[in-house]
Formats: sequence, C-alpha cells, structure tokens
Amino acid sequence: MQELLRVLDPGTEDWGLARLIDPSRLPAHVAIIMDGNGRWAKRRFLPRVAGHKAGVDSVRSVMETAARLRVEVLTLYAFSSENWKRPKSEIDTLFRLLRFFLRQELATMMEQNIQLNAIGRIEDLPEQARDELHRVIGLTSRNNGLKVNLALNYSGRSDIIDGVNRLIEEARAQGQLGSLEISEEMLQGAVSTSGLPDPDLLIRTSGEMRISNFLLWQIAYAEIYVTQTYWPDFRCADLLRAILDFQKRERRFGGLSALERVQAEDQVAEAVPVR
Ligand code: FPP
Repeated sequence: MQELLRVLDPGTEDWGLARLIDPSRLPAHVAIIMDGNGRWAKRRFLPRVAGHKAGVDSVRSVMETAARLRVEVLTLYAFSSENWKRPKSEIDTLFRLLRFFLRQELATMMEQNIQLNAIGRIEDLPEQARDELHRVIGLTSRNNGLKVNLALNYSGRSDIIDGVNRLIEEARAQGQLGSLEISEEMLQGAVSTSGLPDPDLLIRTSGEMRISNFLLWQIAYAEIYVTQTYWPDFRCADLLRAILDFQKRERRFGGLSALERVQAEDQVAEAVPVR
C-alpha cells in the first residue's frame, strides 16, 4: 500500500481511494474479463482495433497498480478460444499488440518484480506472439512479486477437460487407470492455475453480466464486480473502487456470519417443529 501511495499525487482521486483500502483485507487473486474495447472505439467513431490499442494502456495501469498494492495474482482474459471467430485483421492486431506490450513492459516487470505466466492453449498461438511470450515468461520466472496470468486462447471448459485428461494420463502411466477416482483436490492441482489461490474478486468491465467461459472451476466462491466502464477507460481508480467494494462484502463460503451463527444457535431452543 505504501508503495502505491508513494507514486500517487496527494489530493488526486487515485490517492484518495488508495488511502481507503484496508491492506490487511486485499484479494489475493484478482481476475478480470476485459470487455468493451469495440464499443469504446465505436463511440469515438474509431475502428475496433483502436479500442484494443487503448486497452493495452489499461492493462499496464492495472498491472502496475496491482503490483504496488501487493496483490498476489492478477489473471487477465486477453483472448478466448471463441475469439478466433473474429476477422483475421482484428486477430492479427490483437497479437501484434500483445507482442508490443510484452516488449515494452519487460523492463517494468523486472523493476516491479512481476512474474508473467500464460494460461490457455498457448501452443496454438501465432508463432511470433508465442515466442515473445515464452521469452518474457522465461526472463521473469525468478521474480517473486505479483504473478500475472495472461489467459490466451483460453476456455474454462477446456481448462477443466485438460485437467481431467492430465489426471487420466498420469493414472494410466502408473497403471492405476481402473481405480481412478477424481477428487476436488486432484482437479484443483491439475487445472491451469494449480498452486495459485482461486480468484477472490472477478471483475467484468462494460456492464455485461456473463462469465464467458472464464475460469469456470476457479471462480466457485469469487466475489463478482461488474462495472459499466469500458476496458480502455478502466485505470488505477477503477481497480481501487472494485477492491473497496470487495472489502465491504462479507464472504461466507456457504456458511453463516459470526452473528448469524450465534442467532441460529439461540433459535434452536425454540425450533420450528418439522412434520
Ligand atoms: C473484449 O472487448 C476485449 C478483447 C477480446 C481483447 C482484450 C485485449 C486487450 C485489452 C489488448 C491486448 C492485451 C494484452 C494483454 C496486451 P471487445 O472487443 O469484445 O469489445 P466489445 O464487446 O465492445 O465489442
């Protein structure tokens, strides 16, 4: 928190919001569905790709803010398995922007101790983007600050299927396929985010109330925050607002709050007869 406050100008909105954050109740893992680039561009009578280009600045701002806040993991939905249905020129631009971002941000990632990773079927990405991605993943692999996962050619269903297949392969290799019984812990260890905490906070920009095949297994107990803001307008202040909203919520994971538990125990004495 101190690190973030140090780079913000006192009196600005960002600074005011940052001061309200409780550093002891930060979400460990923030996942974001970055949406609304096309609509942002359309409003300005610009081509869709102008929205993606402006969206790169938001990625930079959010990543640097999360690192300074000491969030552990940030997962960004950058390209879904369904996005291949878009025009080739838009897809090409998206991967060119990814390469540009990786080249430009490497120095900052090293400076801010950020470790980059990718989730999704990376092997099917265009070669140049894949190579640049592997290069930056390798160079940042020893950093132990914020972990940034870029979800690329990602599908939540495929993530689960790949995890199950991995477990089947392992069992087959050990001659134990016949007795394989998959538990929650086993699948948790086999999906793409294995070893990381599940997202505590899932943000979606541009007002759509959908999950869009993102981290289906991992968001079981995530708090969902939807903002009308289009991704290219989403910056430091917007992330801080989402975290402040998260900090107001009471997470019960299917249980009861402390107060509700006491009240429920008192009520047992005068229980409603069950027929
Ligand atoms: C959704 O907006 C956004 C995407 C499909 C791509 C997200 C990509 C970036 C933010 C830039 C490159 C990424 C990185 C990591 C450098 P949309 O096009 O579906 O918007 P719309 O719903 O308004 O049409």
